[in-house]
Amino acid sequence: MSITDDRAGRQAADDVEHLRDRVARTLQRARTRTELLTDSVDDADLVAQHSSIMSPLVWDLAHIGNQEELWLVRDVGGRESVRADIDEMYDAFKTPRKNRPALPLLDPTQARAYVRSVRDEALDVLSNTRFAGNRLVEGGFAFGMVAQHEQQHDETMLATHQLRVGAPVLHAPPTPRPATSLRPGAETVVAAGTFEMGTSVDPWALDNERPAHTVDVPAFAIDTFPVTNGQYLDFIADGGYDRRELWSERGWQHRVEAGLTAPQFWYSDGDGWGHDVFGQRGPVDPDRPVVHVSWFEADACARWLGKRLPTEAEWEKAARWDPTSGSSRTYPWGDEHPEAGVHDRRANLGQTHLEPAAIGAYPDGASATGVQQMIGDVWEWTSSDFHSYPGFRFFPYAEYSEVFHGGDYKVLRGGSFGTDPVAVRGTFRNWDHPIRRQIFAGFRCARDVVAG
Ligand SMILES: [Fe+2]
Repeated sequence: MSITDDRAGRQAADDVEHLRDRVARTLQRARTRTELLTDSVDDADLVAQHSSIMSPLVWDLAHIGNQEELWLVRDVGGRESVRADIDEMYDAFKTPRKNRPALPLLDPTQARAYVRSVRDEALDVLSNTRFAGNRLVEGGFAFGMVAQHEQQHDETMLATHQLRVGAPVLHAPPTPRPATSLRPGAETVVAAGTFEMGTSVDPWALDNERPAHTVDVPAFAIDTFPVTNGQYLDFIADGGYDRRELWSERGWQHRVEAGLTAPQFWYSDGDGWGHDVFGQRGPVDPDRPVVHVSWFEADACARWLGKRLPTEAEWEKAARWDPTSGSSRTYPWGDEHPEAGVHDRRANLGQTHLEPAAIGAYPDGASATGVQQMIGDVWEWTSSDFHSYPGFRFFPYAEYSEVFHGGDYKVLRGGSFGTDPVAVRGTFRNWDHPIRRQIFAGFRCARDVVAG
């Protein structure tokens, strides 16, 4: 072996160790959060179904372990099953949510023991992998996918906590405040032209973010900040929920049938509005982004503001496109990953705080075009339906997203205060039914700009 080969070999070994460390830390961070979300309530709360659209927390817990077993222990590790007998019960497709409470689910003690056994096996598989030989392990993909899966369920469990009734059990420090108070409705203009949407190179990007492709976007203006509670309060005060002309046909029908009059978890307290945040009741803060609105409400409020929701391509261009370099960034601020598990000055992520921060609180997270708080705070509804990108191929399983393409879903972007840094980036695509409100979703507006 030449000296150069030797050095390259050592470098490769260092890279493998570095990746192994990163995977182990990322898996552990997810598990710490899962434990916080499941240990903070008693067993009765864990097995209860707090809403018909959510699973009992104990189902999420064992499902997290089951997915880890399927991908890391059996597929990557090629090992014996830990519990093959429970696969069907924890398969989200074979077991609809409403049926989950009636199943002979693992009880809290069994579920905790199960996820621990799986994790021990998975860490053993990790210590033996070279991250090479097949696409599933290259760049640590399967490990990254499993960590993202656990964090996605942690965010779902956080939404279940928000739906649960009872004394508060979650606590977090307050969000930062902006140095000066800012004007909601401020806009940034993004020039017409092409940009690269999606990615072919981010090793932990999931299948629906791929491949990278060029999209030509006409000039548009986009709000510098998400729409605030203050703006939303004005929409309500101006009769927004009673004015048919502001709503789409389906939106109005749903508004009437569901009896919507305000965002979910808001209550009228005589002369104003309050809201319930993880069991803590208090006044609505006008400077924070509105959260817990359906796509239909976002669409109507945008129309009332004289604007519209951005398309998915507009959102991603505003977040990622750097006009100076002519390329797309991983995050609005650049390619550097947000810090995990601590307060990051660029984005409100990872359940570090339990609510979105006031607009202007994260100037360091601005995109090259000057748009703020695109990552973190609230998921942002876009006007786009959920479709695959040209050249899409599912990987490694169709049930992650392919089966949802073309369904009754709208794309959401950017993650919320409840999204872990590993589970979001400028290319990340989330989707949900337009009526959903339990997710931590808000919106920002856009509008056409006439060239001239
Ligand atoms: Fe899942």
